[in-house]
Amino acid sequence: MDVRKIFLDEREIPRQWYNIQADMPNPMKPPLHPGTGKPVGPEDLAPVFPMPLIEQEVSQQRWIDIPDEVMEKLLIWRPSPLYRATALEKALGTPAKIFYKNEGVSPAGSHKPNTAIAQAYYNKKFGIKRLTTETGAGQWGSAIAFACKLFGLECQVYMVRISFDQKPFRKLMMQTWGAKCTASPSDKTNAGRDILAKMPDTPGSLGIAISEAIEDAVTSKDTRYSLGSVLNHVLLHQTIIGLEAQKQMQKVGLYPDVVIGCVGGGSNFAGLAFPYVRDKIHGKNLTVIGVEPAACPTMTRAPFVYDFGDTAKTTPLLPMHSLGHSFVPPPVHAGGLRYHGVAPLVSQLLVDRLIEARSVKQMECYAAAMLWAQTEGFISAPETSHAIAVAIQEAKKAKEEGKEKVILLNWSGHGLMDLTGYDAYMSGKLKDYELPQSEIDSALDEIKDYPKP
Ligand SMILES: Cc1ncc(COP(=O)(O)O)c(C=O)c1O
Repeated sequence: MDVRKIFLDEREIPRQWYNIQADMPNPMKPPLHPGTGKPVGPEDLAPVFPMPLIEQEVSQQRWIDIPDEVMEKLLIWRPSPLYRATALEKALGTPAKIFYKNEGVSPAGSHKPNTAIAQAYYNKKFGIKRLTTETGAGQWGSAIAFACKLFGLECQVYMVRISFDQKPFRKLMMQTWGAKCTASPSDKTNAGRDILAKMPDTPGSLGIAISEAIEDAVTSKDTRYSLGSVLNHVLLHQTIIGLEAQKQMQKVGLYPDVVIGCVGGGSNFAGLAFPYVRDKIHGKNLTVIGVEPAACPTMTRAPFVYDFGDTAKTTPLLPMHSLGHSFVPPPVHAGGLRYHGVAPLVSQLLVDRLIEARSVKQMECYAAAMLWAQTEGFISAPETSHAIAVAIQEAKKAKEEGKEKVILLNWSGHGLMDLTGYDAYMSGKLKDYELPQSEIDSALDEIKDYPKP
C-alpha cells in the first residue's frame, strides 16, 4: 500500500528558520519613508514593532535559531504531518503523486500560529504588554489571540467587517483565548471613522483593518502592532513548514516537481516554498506556483511598485506588486486573500521569475474544495482551496502528458469555521466576480507618482 502520512519525530523538528534574503540573486529593494523617500531605518519602525523583530526584518543571516521558549509552544502541534492525497489522485485518475503539508492541525486551524507564537514571544521579552492586529478570515486573529494568551499579553483584533459577519465563531474563538475582537472599519480609530464617513456600507478590507490596528498600537501605552503576513520576519517564521516538508519528502525518497501555495500576503506560500526556492536558486529544476483569487489579482494583474501596506497610508512604502492601497477587493469568501499587495520578498522572486503566479475564480476553488472533502475528507479553508484548485490543474496536466509528477501543496488551514461559503456554493448562490480593468486602473492612478522600485 502507498504511504498515506509521513511524520517527523519531535527530535527531528528544524531548530532554525531559513532566511531567503541570504540567497536571493537580487536583494529586496528597501522600504521607503513616505515623507523623505529614503530607506526606513530601525528607529522608524520602533513605535510599531519590538526591536528583536525589526532586527529579523532586516537580517541577512541565512539561518536564525528558534528560541527554546518558542519551540516549546510550537511542539503543541508541530511537526505537522505530510499527507499523500491518494484518494484525490485516484478520483482524478492521474499518474501524479500529490502531497500536502497539513497546517490545519494547529489549535487555531491554520499555519498562522507559526509566526503568532514567535511574535508574541519577542514582544513579551521586549516588555510589551498588549498587541493589536487585523484579521481577514479570522485565522490570524485566532492565532494571535491564542499566542498572546500563552505568553500573558493582552490582544485587540480588528476583523474585516465582511468576515466578522460571515464567521461569528471565529470571534468566539478569539474571545475564548481572551482577546477583544472588533469589526473593521470601527468607530474606535480615526482611520475607521474616516472610512465609515465615506463608505458606511463598506465590507472592509485588510488594508483598512491594518490602518486601525497600527493607529491603536502607536497611540496606546506598552502596545505594539503585529502583522500576520507580508513582512520578512513573518515569512521567516513560516519557513519551518518547508523545512519540515523537505525532511518528510526525503523519507519517501521524493522531490517535488511542483510546489504550490495560496497567496494572500504570501506567508504560507513562502513558508512552504522558500526552502525549495533556495534549491532552485542553486540549480534544482522545479516549478513554484503562488495562487491568488481572480477577484484580487495582485501578482497576475498588478504592477511591481512602491505602495503603502495599508489604506490610511501609515506604513512605509513597500516594494511590491500592488493593486493600489485604496483598492477594496470584491467580497469573495477567501477573506484572507483579499489584500491589495503581497510580500516584498515574494514580489521580488516573482520579478526574478524564480516563482510563478496563477489566479483562480472562486467557483473553481469551491468545486476543488468539494472534491477534496469528498476524497481526502478534510474541509479546507476557502483560502486553501486556491492551492487545491491549481494542484488539480497540475494533476490533470500530468495525466494529459502521461507524466508521474510529484506535486506538493500547502494545506494552509481547515474550513470548519468557514461553512457559510460552502453553504452559498451548495445552494447555488455563489458567483464569480469579474474585475474590470478600470477598477484596477483607478486605484493605481492614485499611486502613479510614487517612487519606482
Ligand atoms: C487558511 C489560510 N490560508 C492562507 C491565508 C493567506 O495568508 P498568507 O498569504 O499570509 O498565507 C490565510 C489568511 O488569513 C488563511 O487563513
